Amino acid sequence: MQRQIGIGTIGMGWMGELHSRSQNQVAIRFPDAPATGRLVICADNFERRARSSAEKYGYQQWTTDWREVLEHPEVEAVSITTPNFLHLEMAEAAAAAGKHIWLEKPCGRSPAETKAIADAINTAGVTSHIGFNYRMCPVVKFAKQIVDSGRLGRLTHFRGRFLEGYGSNPDAMLTWRFSRSMAGSGVVADMLSHVVDQAHFLAGPIKRLASQQNTFIGDRPEPIPGEGTHFSIRKGGPRAPVENEDYVGVLVEFANGVFGHLESCRVIQGEKINLSWELHGTNGVLKWYLGRMGELEFFELSEGDNARDGYVNLLASVEMPYFANFTPGDGLSMSYDDTKVIEAYEFLRATDAGEPGEPNINAALAVAEVSDAIFRSWESNSFEDVRPIT
Ligand SMILES: NC(=O)c1ccc[n+]([C@@H]2O[C@H](COP(=O)([O-])OP(=O)(O)OC[C@H]3O[C@@H](n4cnc5c(N)ncnc54)[C@H](O)[C@@H]3O)[C@@H](O)[C@H]2O)c1
Repeated sequence: MQRQIGIGTIGMGWMGELHSRSQNQVAIRFPDAPATGRLVICADNFERRARSSAEKYGYQQWTTDWREVLEHPEVEAVSITTPNFLHLEMAEAAAAAGKHIWLEKPCGRSPAETKAIADAINTAGVTSHIGFNYRMCPVVKFAKQIVDSGRLGRLTHFRGRFLEGYGSNPDAMLTWRFSRSMAGSGVVADMLSHVVDQAHFLAGPIKRLASQQNTFIGDRPEPIPGEGTHFSIRKGGPRAPVENEDYVGVLVEFANGVFGHLESCRVIQGEKINLSWELHGTNGVLKWYLGRMGELEFFELSEGDNARDGYVNLLASVEMPYFANFTPGDGLSMSYDDTKVIEAYEFLRATDAGEPGEPNINAALAVAEVSDAIFRSWESNSFEDVRPIT
């Protein structure tokens, strides 16, 4: 008998809506799931957003006071999908109330806030799942299986990037992502966090690094409260300064001797959603690009026959994790949204089993420790060790 877990969601913007419809998809995509989510109550400080999400996705109730979500007796687990400056207060309150937590990355505005959230969740012993959804792509999971099987040999290089031009138009609105007090850092929190998580997942922990950053567009049009997303353009109107970085580049060394380079930019031209990486070993190579989410390039060294060496393009298949839950046909396409359905399934499964979740808050803390070293490197202008946040 499938258990129903009461769900509350706080912050009904892009991610809040996506978490909600993902919960509704679990029973359809994962009929054997031990638990499904029952949408109880959603909150947004804009009444229109809370009400419309409740109507669209079937929440029993909506509210403009997020604390009512945590006080609701039928809510066992919460999605926190608000801007970064609200993560700490909301996650601490949710953990104290004994709620299991599906929290969006980067988990706070700063490494110190991520550490405080991790302490609260680990002390309360609740399940956590962090929105590093690119780990959930079937071919990325399969890539990890190839790495673990040893077929790449000794790992040597990792290069990863997240390049997305959402801010490339100087009239792209100055949403919370561009504000230090609301987002914390710029691309380090928003986009590089995904690259670092992929690097950790596939190649292991980063040990030391050197970084540089830049802000290419200094001011933007102020946003209209409660309107639009960070992809919205506003012509005319007052402008205000951008407070955090548009670009970051990082030279990295991993604990296992892998060397590499990570990069992220939000004002780049020509790149719509270039999250991609290459992982090299002494015996093989893997390459993945989100724009072709269901493809994995795989090179394996042959027995001294260079003329026959080359990349094979592996298409997603029903033999890869989760794929058959979405389509029976090898090579057919899955979507970004499907990765969130897999997250919802994994969150509910871990919550039902009383497990910590995967990736859980400690994965976010590991990413935050890398961010911390990046910020120190900007100050010192030199290499910095990745170390625990105290
Ligand atoms: N995993 C991913 O791929 C991914 C993608 C986008 C965003 N995110 C993360 O998700 C989070 C939200 O990002 P988004 O793009 O959905 O933002 P968004 O601006 O679209 O939505 C945020 C929502 O929170 C609401 N909100 C603000 N203050 C509130 C309060 N006090 N109480 C209740 N609601 C409140 C806003 O009105 C808005 O509806 C961020 O932390 C971001 O980093 C993750």
